[in-house]
Amino acid sequence: MYEAKKFDLPEVDGISKKTMDEHIGLYEGYVKNFNAISSLLAEYAKDSEKHAHALSELIRRRSFEFGGMRLHELYFPQFEGGSSPIPTSGPFYDAIIQEYHKPEWLIEMIKAIAKMRGPGWALLYWDPVGKQFLTGFSGEQHLGHFVTLPIILALDVWEHAFILDYGAQGKGKYIDAFFKNLNWSIIEKRFEEAQR
Ligand SMILES: [Fe+2]
Repeated sequence: MYEAKKFDLPEVDGISKKTMDEHIGLYEGYVKNFNAISSLLAEYAKDSEKHAHALSELIRRRSFEFGGMRLHELYFPQFEGGSSPIPTSGPFYDAIIQEYHKPEWLIEMIKAIAKMRGPGWALLYWDPVGKQFLTGFSGEQHLGHFVTLPIILALDVWEHAFILDYGAQGKGKYIDAFFKNLNWSIIEKRFEEAQR
């Protein structure tokens, strides 16, 4: 059983407290649903033949809930401590320069992915084997992942992340607000941890 985490969120310029509060409520729902499905699965497994259809549907559903749980646990802490700029030296900076030449180009790539249609997440992974970044889009939250790779930046682009503040067509403004408030030192720390 998992417990919902608490986040120490500062005031975020461009993302209202109401959006954040409701968004955290949705996150807590993922934790609750993951736990509920896990309990049901244990029950159904006692007579898996009888419950075969329900079991297979819940198994599929559970990874959706898990993705929602873990990705939001990556999302909210990225605002904690307030915004800090992308580093201008060190191993994280060097890796960005090697692949993207300029930090701005990495940001542009993530923004382009975030603007893709449909609910999902723009994600930045680090591959410690290939020693390179991978950028990707996870449909909903459990699809399209680069399996086993650590996620170092997670940008939620479901409508619930911005519709209250910017309307259904305001994704671009929300994405700008996300980067304006992003604490890059958190991303750098995740990059360092992903080396192991
Ligand atoms: Fe979300």
